Amino acid sequence: MKNFYTLITGASRGFGKAMALEFAHRKMNLVLVALPNSGLNELSNFIKNNFNIDVVCLEADLSITDSYYIIADYIKDNNIQIKYLVNNAGVLSRGYFDELTDLFILKQIEVNVTAPTLLIRLLLKNLKSNTPAGILNVSSMASFFALPKKQVYGGTKAYLLSFSKSLRKELKKDNISVTTVCPGGLNTTTRLCYQNRICSWITQKSVLSPEVAAKISIDGMLEGKKLIIPGLVNKCFMIVDKILPEFIKDKLTNNEIKKIPAAA
Ligand SMILES: NC(=O)c1ccc[n+]([C@@H]2O[C@H](COP(=O)([O-])OP(=O)(O)OC[C@H]3O[C@@H](n4cnc5c(N)ncnc54)[C@H](OP(=O)(O)O)[C@@H]3O)[C@@H](O)[C@H]2O)c1
Repeated sequence: MKNFYTLITGASRGFGKAMALEFAHRKMNLVLVALPNSGLNELSNFIKNNFNIDVVCLEADLSITDSYYIIADYIKDNNIQIKYLVNNAGVLSRGYFDELTDLFILKQIEVNVTAPTLLIRLLLKNLKSNTPAGILNVSSMASFFALPKKQVYGGTKAYLLSFSKSLRKELKKDNISVTTVCPGGLNTTTRLCYQNRICSWITQKSVLSPEVAAKISIDGMLEGKKLIIPGLVNKCFMIVDKILPEFIKDKLTNNEIKKIPAAA
Protein backbone atom coordinates (compact mmCIF):
# COMPACT_ATOMS: atom_id res chain seq x y z
CA MET A 1 0.00 0.00 0.00
CA LYS A 2 1.21 3.51 -0.81
CA ASN A 3 2.21 5.92 1.96
CA PHE A 4 0.58 9.26 1.18
CA TYR A 5 1.90 12.71 2.10
CA THR A 6 0.57 16.28 2.35
CA LEU A 7 3.00 18.97 1.24
CA ILE A 8 2.56 22.33 3.01
CA THR A 9 4.53 25.45 2.10
CA GLY A 10 5.16 28.09 4.77
CA ALA A 11 4.71 25.47 7.47
CA SER A 12 7.15 26.93 10.00
CA ARG A 13 4.68 29.28 11.68
CA GLY A 14 1.28 30.93 11.58
CA PHE A 15 -1.48 29.42 9.47
CA GLY A 16 0.85 26.88 7.78
CA LYS A 17 2.04 25.51 11.13
CA ALA A 18 -1.57 25.24 12.35
CA MET A 19 -2.44 23.28 9.20
CA ALA A 20 0.58 21.01 9.66
CA LEU A 21 -0.59 20.19 13.22
CA GLU A 22 -4.18 19.64 12.02
CA PHE A 23 -3.05 17.24 9.27
CA ALA A 24 -0.77 15.49 11.79
CA HIS A 25 -3.75 15.08 14.10
CA ARG A 26 -5.48 13.34 11.17
CA LYS A 27 -2.48 10.98 10.81
CA MET A 28 -1.35 12.30 7.43
CA ASN A 29 2.39 12.13 6.67
CA LEU A 30 3.87 15.54 5.93
CA VAL A 31 6.36 17.34 3.73
CA LEU A 32 6.96 20.73 5.34
CA VAL A 33 8.53 23.60 3.38
CA ALA A 34 9.84 26.93 4.75
CA LEU A 35 12.90 29.15 4.66
CA PRO A 36 16.18 27.79 6.10
CA ASN A 37 16.58 28.18 9.90
CA SER A 38 12.90 28.87 10.49
CA GLY A 39 12.42 26.20 13.16
CA LEU A 40 11.11 23.55 10.78
CA ASN A 41 13.23 20.78 12.31
CA GLU A 42 11.92 21.47 15.84
CA LEU A 43 8.35 21.38 14.54
CA SER A 44 9.07 18.19 12.62
CA ASN A 45 10.55 16.48 15.72
CA PHE A 46 7.58 17.56 17.81
CA ILE A 47 5.13 16.13 15.27
CA LYS A 48 7.06 12.87 14.84
CA ASN A 49 7.27 12.35 18.61
CA ASN A 50 3.62 13.12 19.28
CA PHE A 51 1.66 11.92 16.27
CA ASN A 52 3.58 8.86 15.05
CA ILE A 53 3.68 9.93 11.42
CA ASP A 54 6.53 10.58 8.96
CA VAL A 55 7.65 14.18 8.42
CA VAL A 56 10.07 15.42 5.74
CA CYS A 57 11.49 18.95 6.05
CA LEU A 58 12.57 20.88 3.00
CA GLU A 59 14.26 24.23 3.60
CA ALA A 60 13.81 26.37 0.51
CA ASP A 61 13.39 30.01 -0.45
CA LEU A 62 10.24 30.17 -2.57
CA SER A 63 11.21 33.57 -3.94
CA ILE A 64 13.92 31.77 -5.94
CA THR A 65 12.71 29.85 -9.00
CA ASP A 66 15.34 27.10 -8.64
CA SER A 67 13.73 26.12 -5.32
CA TYR A 68 10.59 24.78 -7.03
CA TYR A 69 12.66 22.40 -9.14
CA ILE A 70 14.79 21.34 -6.15
CA ILE A 71 11.60 20.51 -4.18
CA ALA A 72 10.06 18.61 -7.11
CA ASP A 73 13.29 16.67 -7.76
CA TYR A 74 13.56 15.71 -4.07
CA ILE A 75 9.96 14.44 -4.07
CA LYS A 76 10.58 12.43 -7.24
CA ASP A 77 13.99 11.04 -6.25
CA ASN A 78 12.66 9.86 -2.87
CA ASN A 79 9.45 8.45 -4.35
CA ILE A 80 7.26 10.57 -2.03
CA GLN A 81 3.57 10.21 -2.92
CA ILE A 82 1.78 13.57 -2.63
CA LYS A 83 -1.99 13.34 -2.14
CA TYR A 84 -2.62 16.88 -0.91
CA LEU A 85 -0.73 20.06 -1.76
CA VAL A 86 -1.25 23.14 0.40
CA ASN A 87 0.12 26.37 -1.09
CA ASN A 88 0.17 28.49 2.06
CA ALA A 89 3.51 30.39 2.04
CA GLY A 90 2.90 34.05 1.51
CA VAL A 91 4.50 37.45 1.87
CA LEU A 92 2.01 39.65 3.72
CA SER A 93 1.15 43.27 2.90
CA ARG A 94 3.45 45.97 4.17
CA GLY A 95 2.25 49.51 3.41
CA TYR A 96 1.48 52.15 0.79
CA PHE A 97 2.62 51.38 -2.76
CA ASP A 98 5.15 54.24 -2.95
CA GLU A 99 6.76 53.00 0.29
CA LEU A 100 7.45 49.49 -1.06
CA THR A 101 10.81 48.61 -2.60
CA ASP A 102 11.06 46.95 -6.03
CA LEU A 103 12.74 43.99 -4.33
CA PHE A 104 9.86 43.54 -1.88
CA ILE A 105 7.25 43.68 -4.68
CA LEU A 106 9.12 41.11 -6.77
CA LYS A 107 9.47 38.81 -3.75
CA GLN A 108 5.77 39.12 -2.90
CA ILE A 109 4.77 38.22 -6.46
CA GLU A 110 7.27 35.34 -6.61
CA VAL A 111 6.18 33.74 -3.31
CA ASN A 112 2.42 34.45 -3.63
CA VAL A 113 1.95 33.83 -7.36
CA THR A 114 4.84 32.06 -9.09
CA ALA A 115 5.58 29.53 -6.34
CA PRO A 116 2.05 28.06 -6.04
CA THR A 117 1.57 28.06 -9.82
CA LEU A 118 4.82 26.24 -10.62
CA LEU A 119 4.67 23.89 -7.63
CA ILE A 120 1.26 22.67 -8.82
CA ARG A 121 2.63 22.21 -12.32
CA LEU A 122 5.74 20.34 -11.15
CA LEU A 123 3.81 18.07 -8.74
CA LEU A 124 0.78 17.45 -10.95
CA LYS A 125 1.95 14.08 -12.29
CA ASN A 126 2.58 12.93 -8.74
CA LEU A 127 -0.88 14.13 -7.59
CA LYS A 128 -2.50 12.41 -10.59
CA SER A 129 -1.01 9.09 -9.52
CA ASN A 130 -2.52 9.43 -6.01
CA THR A 131 -6.15 10.29 -6.70
CA PRO A 132 -8.53 11.26 -5.31
CA ALA A 133 -6.16 14.14 -4.55
CA GLY A 134 -6.55 17.76 -3.48
CA ILE A 135 -4.92 21.16 -3.81
CA LEU A 136 -5.59 23.88 -1.23
CA ASN A 137 -4.53 27.37 -2.29
CA VAL A 138 -4.42 29.98 0.48
CA SER A 139 -5.73 33.26 -0.88
CA SER A 140 -7.30 35.97 1.30
CA MET A 141 -10.46 38.05 1.69
CA ALA A 142 -8.24 40.84 0.36
CA SER A 143 -8.73 39.20 -3.05
CA PHE A 144 -12.35 40.47 -3.11
CA PHE A 145 -11.88 44.06 -1.95
CA ALA A 146 -9.99 47.17 -3.10
CA LEU A 147 -7.84 48.01 -0.09
CA PRO A 148 -5.14 50.67 0.36
CA LYS A 149 -1.90 49.23 1.83
CA LYS A 150 -2.84 45.83 0.33
CA GLN A 151 -2.58 46.67 -3.39
CA VAL A 152 0.05 44.16 -4.62
CA TYR A 153 -0.88 41.65 -1.92
CA GLY A 154 -4.60 41.80 -2.89
CA GLY A 155 -3.61 41.47 -6.55
CA THR A 156 -1.54 38.35 -5.89
CA LYS A 157 -4.38 36.79 -3.88
CA ALA A 158 -6.94 37.66 -6.59
CA TYR A 159 -4.69 35.89 -9.09
CA LEU A 160 -4.60 32.80 -6.89
CA LEU A 161 -8.39 32.77 -6.56
CA SER A 162 -8.99 33.17 -10.30
CA PHE A 163 -6.27 30.65 -11.24
CA SER A 164 -7.65 28.10 -8.77
CA LYS A 165 -11.23 28.40 -10.07
CA SER A 166 -10.14 27.75 -13.67
CA LEU A 167 -7.70 24.99 -12.74
CA ARG A 168 -10.44 23.28 -10.71
CA LYS A 169 -12.49 22.90 -13.91
CA GLU A 170 -9.51 21.43 -15.79
CA LEU A 171 -8.50 18.95 -13.10
CA LYS A 172 -11.99 17.65 -12.34
CA LYS A 173 -11.56 14.94 -14.98
CA ASP A 174 -8.35 13.81 -13.20
CA ASN A 175 -10.13 13.46 -9.84
CA ILE A 176 -8.07 16.29 -8.31
CA SER A 177 -10.08 18.87 -6.41
CA VAL A 178 -8.82 22.45 -6.25
CA THR A 179 -10.00 24.48 -3.26
CA THR A 180 -9.30 28.13 -2.44
CA VAL A 181 -9.49 29.39 1.11
CA CYS A 182 -9.92 33.13 1.66
CA PRO A 183 -9.35 33.85 5.35
CA GLY A 184 -10.09 37.23 6.88
CA GLY A 185 -7.97 38.32 9.82
CA LEU A 186 -5.93 35.59 11.52
CA ASN A 187 -3.94 36.04 14.71
CA THR A 188 -0.60 34.85 13.31
CA THR A 189 2.26 37.38 13.35
CA THR A 190 2.90 39.80 16.25
CA ARG A 191 1.97 42.72 14.01
CA LEU A 192 -1.33 41.12 12.98
CA CYS A 193 -2.21 40.16 16.57
CA TYR A 194 -1.71 43.82 17.58
CA GLN A 195 -3.57 45.13 14.53
CA ASN A 196 -6.49 42.80 15.22
CA ARG A 197 -6.77 44.17 18.77
CA ILE A 198 -7.00 47.84 17.80
CA CYS A 199 -9.47 47.52 14.92
CA SER A 200 -13.25 48.10 15.25
CA TRP A 201 -15.33 45.66 17.29
CA ILE A 202 -16.91 44.15 14.19
CA THR A 203 -13.52 43.46 12.60
CA GLN A 204 -12.35 42.02 15.94
CA LYS A 205 -15.32 39.65 15.83
CA SER A 206 -14.22 38.44 12.39
CA VAL A 207 -10.70 37.46 13.50
CA LEU A 208 -10.00 33.76 13.91
CA SER A 209 -7.18 31.80 15.47
CA PRO A 210 -5.01 29.98 12.90
CA GLU A 211 -6.03 26.66 14.53
CA VAL A 212 -9.77 27.26 13.99
CA ALA A 213 -9.20 28.45 10.40
CA ALA A 214 -6.96 25.42 9.72
CA LYS A 215 -9.63 22.94 10.79
CA ILE A 216 -12.31 24.68 8.69
CA SER A 217 -9.97 24.82 5.67
CA ILE A 218 -8.90 21.18 5.81
CA ASP A 219 -12.48 19.97 6.36
CA GLY A 220 -13.55 22.04 3.34
CA MET A 221 -10.72 20.79 1.16
CA LEU A 222 -11.46 17.15 2.02
CA GLU A 223 -15.13 17.78 1.13
CA GLY A 224 -13.96 19.09 -2.25
CA LYS A 225 -15.32 22.62 -1.77
CA LYS A 226 -14.48 25.25 -4.38
CA LEU A 227 -14.22 28.23 -2.02
CA ILE A 228 -13.91 28.48 1.75
CA ILE A 229 -14.43 31.68 3.71
CA PRO A 230 -13.74 30.76 7.34
CA GLY A 231 -15.98 32.35 9.99
CA LEU A 232 -19.58 33.53 10.05
CA VAL A 233 -18.75 37.24 10.34
CA ASN A 234 -16.52 37.04 7.27
CA LYS A 235 -19.31 35.35 5.30
CA CYS A 236 -21.60 38.24 6.37
CA PHE A 237 -18.97 40.77 5.16
CA MET A 238 -19.22 39.20 1.71
CA ILE A 239 -22.99 39.71 1.64
CA VAL A 240 -22.85 43.25 3.05
CA ASP A 241 -20.21 44.11 0.43
CA LYS A 242 -22.74 43.39 -2.31
CA ILE A 243 -25.40 45.62 -0.70
CA LEU A 244 -23.54 48.72 0.57
CA PRO A 245 -22.87 51.67 -1.74
CA GLU A 246 -19.22 52.22 -2.69
CA PHE A 247 -18.77 55.51 -0.73
CA ILE A 248 -19.86 53.88 2.57
CA LYS A 249 -17.55 50.90 1.98
CA ASP A 250 -14.67 53.31 1.25
CA LYS A 251 -15.32 55.21 4.49
CA LEU A 252 -15.42 52.01 6.54
CA THR A 253 -12.34 50.40 5.00
CA ASN A 254 -10.29 53.62 5.07
CA ASN A 255 -10.92 53.96 8.81
CA GLU A 256 -9.69 50.40 9.37
CA ILE A 257 -6.71 50.69 7.02
CA LYS A 258 -5.46 53.84 8.81
CA LYS A 259 -5.07 51.76 11.98
CA ILE A 260 -2.67 49.27 10.36
CA PRO A 261 0.66 49.67 12.20
CA ALA A 262 3.90 50.30 10.32
CA ALA A 263 5.90 47.21 9.33
CA ALA A 264 9.07 46.39 11.26
N1 LIG B 1 -2.69 36.23 8.85
C1 LIG B 1 -3.75 36.68 8.19
O1 LIG B 1 -4.50 37.54 8.69
C2 LIG B 1 -4.07 36.13 6.82
C3 LIG B 1 -5.30 36.46 6.25
C4 LIG B 1 -5.60 35.97 4.99
C5 LIG B 1 -4.69 35.16 4.32
N2 LIG B 1 -3.50 34.85 4.90
C6 LIG B 1 -2.56 34.02 4.15
O2 LIG B 1 -2.20 32.90 4.91
C7 LIG B 1 -0.88 32.48 4.57
C8 LIG B 1 -0.04 32.37 5.83
O3 LIG B 1 -0.03 33.62 6.47
P1 LIG B 1 0.49 33.82 7.97
O4 LIG B 1 -0.30 34.90 8.56
O5 LIG B 1 0.59 32.50 8.64
O6 LIG B 1 1.95 34.40 7.67
P2 LIG B 1 3.35 34.19 8.44
O7 LIG B 1 3.15 33.91 9.88
O8 LIG B 1 4.18 35.37 8.01
O9 LIG B 1 3.89 32.86 7.75
C9 LIG B 1 4.24 32.88 6.41
C10 LIG B 1 4.85 31.55 6.08
O10 LIG B 1 5.32 31.63 4.72
C11 LIG B 1 6.69 31.31 4.72
N3 LIG B 1 7.44 32.06 3.73
C12 LIG B 1 7.44 33.41 3.56
N4 LIG B 1 8.32 33.74 2.61
C13 LIG B 1 8.89 32.57 2.19
C14 LIG B 1 9.86 32.25 1.22
N5 LIG B 1 10.49 33.20 0.49
N6 LIG B 1 10.21 30.96 1.05
C15 LIG B 1 9.63 29.99 1.80
N7 LIG B 1 8.69 30.22 2.72
C16 LIG B 1 8.33 31.50 2.92
C17 LIG B 1 7.21 31.63 6.10
O11 LIG B 1 8.37 30.85 6.34
P3 LIG B 1 9.54 31.38 7.33
O12 LIG B 1 9.07 31.14 8.73
O13 LIG B 1 10.67 30.51 6.95
O14 LIG B 1 9.74 32.85 7.04
C18 LIG B 1 6.03 31.21 6.96
O15 LIG B 1 6.08 29.84 7.21
C19 LIG B 1 -0.34 33.53 3.60
O16 LIG B 1 -0.48 33.07 2.28
C20 LIG B 1 -1.25 34.72 3.83
O17 LIG B 1 -1.35 35.54 2.70
C21 LIG B 1 -3.15 35.32 6.14
